[in-house]
Amino acid sequence: MKARVLSGMQPTGDLHIGNYLGALKNWVRIQSDYECIFCIVDLHAITVYQEPARLRAKIEEIAAIYLAAGIDPAQSRVMVQSAVPEHAELAWMLTCVTPVGWLERMTQYKTKAAAQESVGDGLLQYPVLMAADILLYQAAIVPVGEDQVQHLELSRDIAQRFNSLYGETFTMPSTSLPTVGARVMGLDDPTAKMSKSATGTNHAVALLDPPEKIRKTILRATTDSQSGVDFDTLGAGVANLLAIFQGFTGWTDEQVRAHFAGMRYGDLKKQVADAVIAGLEPFQSRYREIVAEPGYLAGVLRDGAERVRPLARETVELVKQRMGLFSELV
Ligand code: TRP
Repeated sequence: MKARVLSGMQPTGDLHIGNYLGALKNWVRIQSDYECIFCIVDLHAITVYQEPARLRAKIEEIAAIYLAAGIDPAQSRVMVQSAVPEHAELAWMLTCVTPVGWLERMTQYKTKAAAQESVGDGLLQYPVLMAADILLYQAAIVPVGEDQVQHLELSRDIAQRFNSLYGETFTMPSTSLPTVGARVMGLDDPTAKMSKSATGTNHAVALLDPPEKIRKTILRATTDSQSGVDFDTLGAGVANLLAIFQGFTGWTDEQVRAHFAGMRYGDLKKQVADAVIAGLEPFQSRYREIVAEPGYLAGVLRDGAERVRPLARETVELVKQRMGLFSELV
C-alpha cells in the first residue's frame, strides 16, 4: 500500500515561483509514488479577514494552479477544506486536548498576533485545525516548508496526547520528504524567503504574471556591487537568480558554472527572465484552458471531496467512540 501524503496551501495572496519550485513541483514529482491529498485550506485563510468575493475566486485560482502545475486529479485528490465538514469537526475535538500554552508558543501566532489590534481566536487555533487536516486522513507524510515545521511538530504532540488519553487512534505524521529544488528568496531582498504576503512590487514573480511583467521584475532584481558572476564570491541575489534558472531549466551545477562564469549581471538577468518565461509558458496555457472549460474545475473539486469524505468520516467516528461522544455507528 502506498503511504498517504497530505499538504495544503491557503487561498490567499498570489502563488509565485517560490511556491512552484519549492512545493508544487515536488508534489507533482511524488504523486505516483504516494497516495496524495492536496487541500486548499480556506478555513485557515479566514483566520485573518478575507474579502468574501476575493476569497471565493482565490479558491478556484489555487485549484486551477495545482492542476496546471501537473497535479493529476485522477491520481491525487484535490479538495477544498470547507467542503469536508469533518475538518472543522475534528478540530474541535483536538482543541479540547490541546493546552493553550502550546498554542501561545507558536512563532507564527506570535508574529501574526503582534500585527493585529484584536486577536481572533481562530489565529490561536490555526495549528489545531492544521493538525485536524493531517490526522483526519491519518497522513504519514506531510511536505511543508520550514515555516510550517513547528506546526507539524505540534500536530504530532496533539496526536500523541490524544493517543495517550484515549488509546492509539492517530498515525504519527512524519515531518516531510526530502525536497529537491530551490528555496527561492525575494527578488528585492535575497535574505528573506519569497513570500506571497510580502507587499513589495518587485518582491516575487507570480505564476500568473504576464511575460513582460516577469521580465521587468527579474531585470530589477537586487544583486550586489560586483559587475559579473564570480562563483568564488557569489552574493545571495545572484545565487538566487541562478537557483531560479536551474529550477526552470534543470541544468546541472557544472552547466551553470560553465555558462554563467564572468557573465555581466544585465545579461544574466535577461537569460533568467527568458528561462522563467519559457518555463511558465506551458503552465500558463494549461491554466487558461482549465479555467475556460465550463464546469471542469467544479467537477474536480466535487470529486476530490467525495473521494476523501469516507476517510474523514471514518476517523471522526473513531474519535467519537474513543472519547465517548454519541456515535451512530455503535
Ligand atoms: N499552514 C500551512 C501553510 O500556511 C497550510 C496548511 C494547512 C497545511 N493545513 C495543512 C499544510 C496541512 C500541510 C498540511 O503553509
